[in-house]
Amino acid sequence: MGSGIAQVAAQAGYQVVLVDLSEAFVRAGVGKIEKSLSRSVEKGKLSLDEKDAVLGRIQATTKLEDLRNAELILEAVFEDMSLKLDLLRGLGPLCSPETLFASNTSTLSITQMAAGASQPSKFFGLHFFNPVPVMRLVEVVPGLQTSPQTVDQAIEFVKTIKKVPIEARDCPGFLVNRILLAYVGESMLAAQEGAASPAEIDESIKNAGFPMGPLAMNDMVGIDVGVHSFPVLHEAYGDRFPVPVLFERLAQAGRLGLKSKKGIYADGRVDDEFLQIIGRIQRETGIKDTQYSPERLILRQVNEAIYCLQEKVAKAEDIDRALALGTGFPVDENGAGGPLHWADAAGLDWVLNRLNHFKDSLGSRFWPHFLLKQYVAAGYLGRKASKGFFEY
Ligand code: 3HC
Repeated sequence: MGSGIAQVAAQAGYQVVLVDLSEAFVRAGVGKIEKSLSRSVEKGKLSLDEKDAVLGRIQATTKLEDLRNAELILEAVFEDMSLKLDLLRGLGPLCSPETLFASNTSTLSITQMAAGASQPSKFFGLHFFNPVPVMRLVEVVPGLQTSPQTVDQAIEFVKTIKKVPIEARDCPGFLVNRILLAYVGESMLAAQEGAASPAEIDESIKNAGFPMGPLAMNDMVGIDVGVHSFPVLHEAYGDRFPVPVLFERLAQAGRLGLKSKKGIYADGRVDDEFLQIIGRIQRETGIKDTQYSPERLILRQVNEAIYCLQEKVAKAEDIDRALALGTGFPVDENGAGGPLHWADAAGLDWVLNRLNHFKDSLGSRFWPHFLLKQYVAAGYLGRKASKGFFEY
């Protein structure tokens, strides 16, 4: 994601220093940016001169010292806390006390990282979404030590790169990944159980109005991201976030998604190796041919969104806006949409019934949040009652 972030910052006029571990990684990063900008030139959205100017604003290097004068340093290294802390320790003495530090981590604790930074009050999460040049959301995540002034600076920075900042509390997965990965995890469980084929799962979700199916999204984001994210979510939230073994098995087979040319899909379809992998998982777990419907997946987003609402990770409007802007959750003609609007439209009594049904048939990860039961008891049934998570 680092190259995508470097690209949008350079396109907004910032001088960018792109640092990676080796010359080969640096070349690959710049190559991705060149390819993306060339696509925009071909579409007539960017002139050749503008493309050259953007590339001219990017200094690509393997030397951390080249970050010495940076005003903001954003790390997007591998999802490993000790690696990130080592990097912070290395950067601290190089930079001025005024330098802002941010992490693009998917799930790791901003507060824990800030504790390892030389200026914890200047540290925050800045979480982008794939593909970075396209997705409009950036989550701004203050740690416990982040100062209000730093949060304001972070929000201002996001606006200058023409993205939409939404503030979320520091919790594993923050706002969007917490809700999104509940659904992505369910899609992986459905696939490994043979509830439906990957193509059927992805098609059913696209038919529900989403821009992309969750399994194709896994291949785009990278199977390795799932390998690292799910244990963090499981550790934090327990049985609500089981770790689908399919992630690890795909990674062991070198199937990391688009970056390794095969993941769940190979050349756009499921191949024999994938079928063997899920066959083996089904024999080991004894779980196969479970029921499938797209709401099995979408209700996992809805229930987790209610957890986020109740824990004040963000306001209801921001929860929905974040899922729409960060993941393309379908919106209506007025731009309203997201898991809470979806639940209001479906009827909260129906949502409660279906969650109970899946809890009884598939497991406790579907246990309906008590807030949902309270809304139903109060008669706040969603759109049809003119009041649910929103008023109509
Ligand atoms: N880089 C740059 N631009 C890209 C791109 C890329 N990798 N992929 C697509 N685009 C551009 C296309 O050029 C096109 O631009 P145009 O409108 O100017 O012509 C536009 O995006 C639409 O692309 P396509 O027509 O090829 O295809 P789609 O209409 O299907 O859109 C998509 C592709 C934008 C990826 C869309 O399917 C989508 O929104 N999917 C959901 C993505 C999502 O959920 N992201 C979040 C993942 S989770 C995450 O990143 C968090 C992290 O912590 C792991």
